[in-house]
Amino acid sequence: MKIAMLGSGFIARFYADSLIGHRRTDTLHAVYSRNADKAKAFAQEYNLPFYSTDMQEVVSHPEVDVVVISLPNDLHLAAVEACAKAGKHVLCTKPLGRTAAEAKQMLDMVEQAGVMGGYLEDLCYSPKFIKSLASIKAGSLGRILWAKSREAHPGPHSNWFWNKEQSGGGAIVDLGCHCIEIARNFIGKEVKPVEVMCWASTQVHPIDAEDNAIGLVKYANGAIGQFEVSWCFRGGMDLRDEVMGTEGTIWTNNFLRTGFDMFTTGKGGGYVAEKAESNSGWLFPVGDEVNELGYNHMFTDMFEAIDGKREPAETFYDGYVVNAIIDAAYASAKSGQWEAVQLSDWRGNNEVTREAAYAIYNDQYYLIKEEILPHGDRKLILKDKQTGEVIVKDL
Ligand SMILES: NC(=O)c1ccc[n+]([C@@H]2O[C@H](COP(=O)([O-])OP(=O)(O)OC[C@H]3O[C@@H](n4cnc5c(N)ncnc54)[C@H](O)[C@@H]3O)[C@@H](O)[C@H]2O)c1
Repeated sequence: MKIAMLGSGFIARFYADSLIGHRRTDTLHAVYSRNADKAKAFAQEYNLPFYSTDMQEVVSHPEVDVVVISLPNDLHLAAVEACAKAGKHVLCTKPLGRTAAEAKQMLDMVEQAGVMGGYLEDLCYSPKFIKSLASIKAGSLGRILWAKSREAHPGPHSNWFWNKEQSGGGAIVDLGCHCIEIARNFIGKEVKPVEVMCWASTQVHPIDAEDNAIGLVKYANGAIGQFEVSWCFRGGMDLRDEVMGTEGTIWTNNFLRTGFDMFTTGKGGGYVAEKAESNSGWLFPVGDEVNELGYNHMFTDMFEAIDGKREPAETFYDGYVVNAIIDAAYASAKSGQWEAVQLSDWRGNNEVTREAAYAIYNDQYYLIKEEILPHGDRKLILKDKQTGEVIVKDL
């Protein structure tokens, strides 16, 4: 496939580095940037035969099969519309829309055009995420009760992020979209997100949107998703996930503690990792950032999905569900109440029973807990199934 890139900024470069970084049969062919010098520089750097300041010209270029949208959030809708009209497969960066209403329009456009809409949620393709999800799907953690995801850094790198009109909001829409989709995968995409409770605040920056937020997403099976996001965090980019199940736990740290610590006086300078605030002292570099952040696995899945005429792991529908959860988070931050997730188009399970997975001790008792005390004594805490009495049994 031949790929067109819309945008030549921060994420366009990350994506291009992934697309040209390894031997691939798919090639980056064209770039659109509103600035001719930047379009030309991007084309030269990545060796692309075509560039233009006219988005339409790039999207409808006869050799282009698939378009990657790397533009600010307020331009995603128009770009998806252009791709759908031209009958080109489209891969859009996160968040899909500024709101669920925008995301739904994009979803409808690609479905009506019969092209693939891939949602470029890279953090759902990182090597640690892929392994975690496989373990969860294999049952290693039992029933998932709680999935928490945190993304915090000192704030984004371009002016438009800080403009609520263009971005759709602050740290919630920018970073919360990752965290929400990570937790949703771990809990199960077929499980309906029902309500959100969110605290959001503008603590540091002179902006209209939130620069700090915490939210809880209640799922129909009783599981809870938690997102923690910040544009105020100092010290780099904090990307951590925690999953708690009835049979196990996963903790991952994707960025600040990857097992790679380095000290330098600062001689040599240079780039350490995304959003790193220092290049001297003790540093926490990331070995292969493009790979660790999931871009390689993400694009492989996207192109294989187009080839195989199947859906990728992350679709425009997922982007729409994430936007609906974000809308509810903003409503909750405003009202101070739990707010319903409004999903006019729900494709998962409707009847979700809350499993009562109590451990059975014998015919009479449930097992609440087995404890080994410091002196080596063992005891069981049991509950009588009939009377409800909780007893202790020393072993
Ligand atoms: N991990 C991720 O998945 C990730 C990371 C960063 C950004 N993003 C997303 O990528 C998108 C772009 O973010 P970025 O960080 O690359 O921003 P950026 O500011 O670095 O780049 C934006 C690009 O869009 C162009 N642009 C800006 N305004 C324009 C306009 N009015 N018309 C045409 N082009 C315009 C800029 O010239 C630039 O090429 C956003 O949706 C953002 O949320 C995703």
